[in-house]
Amino acid sequence: MQAATIHHQPRLRHRLPPTTAAPSRRPTSIRMSLRDDGPSLAIVGVTGAVGQEFLSVLSDRDFPYSSIRMLASRRSAGRRFTFEEREYVIEELTPDSFDGVDVALFSAGGSVSRELGPVAAAKGAVVVDNSSAFRMVPGVPLVIPEVNPEAMDGVRIGKGAIVANPNCSTIICLMAATPLHRVAKVTRMVVDTYQAASGAGAAAMEELELQTREVLEGKKPTCKIFSQQYAFNLFSHNSALQSNGYNEEEMKLVNETRKIWSDNDIKVTPTCIRVPVMRAHAESIKLQFEKPLDENTAREILSNAAGLVVIDDRATNSFPTPLKVSNKDDIAVGRIRRDLSMDGDYGLSIFVCGDQIRKGAALNAVQIAEMLL
Ligand SMILES: NC(=O)c1ccc[n+]([C@@H]2O[C@H](COP(=O)([O-])OP(=O)(O)OC[C@H]3O[C@@H](n4cnc5c(N)ncnc54)[C@H](OP(=O)(O)O)[C@@H]3O)[C@@H](O)[C@H]2O)c1
Repeated sequence: MQAATIHHQPRLRHRLPPTTAAPSRRPTSIRMSLRDDGPSLAIVGVTGAVGQEFLSVLSDRDFPYSSIRMLASRRSAGRRFTFEEREYVIEELTPDSFDGVDVALFSAGGSVSRELGPVAAAKGAVVVDNSSAFRMVPGVPLVIPEVNPEAMDGVRIGKGAIVANPNCSTIICLMAATPLHRVAKVTRMVVDTYQAASGAGAAAMEELELQTREVLEGKKPTCKIFSQQYAFNLFSHNSALQSNGYNEEEMKLVNETRKIWSDNDIKVTPTCIRVPVMRAHAESIKLQFEKPLDENTAREILSNAAGLVVIDDRATNSFPTPLKVSNKDDIAVGRIRRDLSMDGDYGLSIFVCGDQIRKGAALNAVQIAEMLL
């Protein structure tokens, strides 16, 4: 029941200096990933928070590749760095960037994806897109490999396609909720999120760090990424509010859950909050079931689910935290308890933490790419 609890500081990845090694936690002597028979890759947005994590995950998982094109904006073009003992030059992203590319991992924002995702797919690449540009487009698979791998049917290398990576909060939520849903059928979910700076990219992480220093030094905090003070504060998610009072991040949880679970009747009501945590999101999730499910059975199901780790030790008050999951692949689940506000075993409360740059973005995308191998 109790998982390893390693406390460590989140790894801060700032923008690449002119020559810097891309992060890698593997030994440096043997490189198995560069192989003639591997697919040719393109990483779009390689200098960003998710782009950097793509490199880390590809390396950690020995993803085979015959070549990688490192792509970013004109601002970064020409910068050099080393990845797996080879020097790469960052290229400016253009429509020609995808000539001969088999798999393109996109994380440069929605407008870049909208403009060049279809171009890459038309040139034969399988695009795995981290933005929200195509998630709700009918016919575009929206995939969490542990949850709905069947959505990838028919997608293969050599046949251009766009596959969408779900929103990070959706991935973290459904990784925990789906194993229970499969057994007891979830009819309603109340999801409250506590979202980290890293979810808003590398510049937001830098702003939180800067503001924290400024506030401690008695200075006025610099607000560029967020419109209000972030350090020592929390606020409603910064995405646009809609006419129904929910913001875009919340509606992603509602709509993406319906698509991924192929269930337009599932009721989801989220509240998304930005908290001054550097990396990894937390979510409090209340599940209502069609069939009864007691908490011990739920704990057993979650303990055996792929990609999950249960941290649920009431005796020591040890439960998931953002620090425990930072830079980790698994989503952590704890506070598993019967919902006292509901009769019988028809409601369950859980608390979930996940590294949203990793499983919420880069890892999930690389797992999708692995399904093509
Ligand atoms: N952060 C997360 O946890 C997370 C999770 C899920 C999905 N996503 C999505 O992933 C995408 C990137 O997020 P991020 O957090 O990695 O952002 P980020 O740290 O701000 O990085 C943005 C990246 O996009 C590149 N870029 C921006 N404009 C470009 C252009 N016109 N042409 C080519 N490249 C361009 C940037 O290159 P330069 O350095 O050259 O400017 C940089 O590499 C977004 O769509 C975001 O919604 C993020």
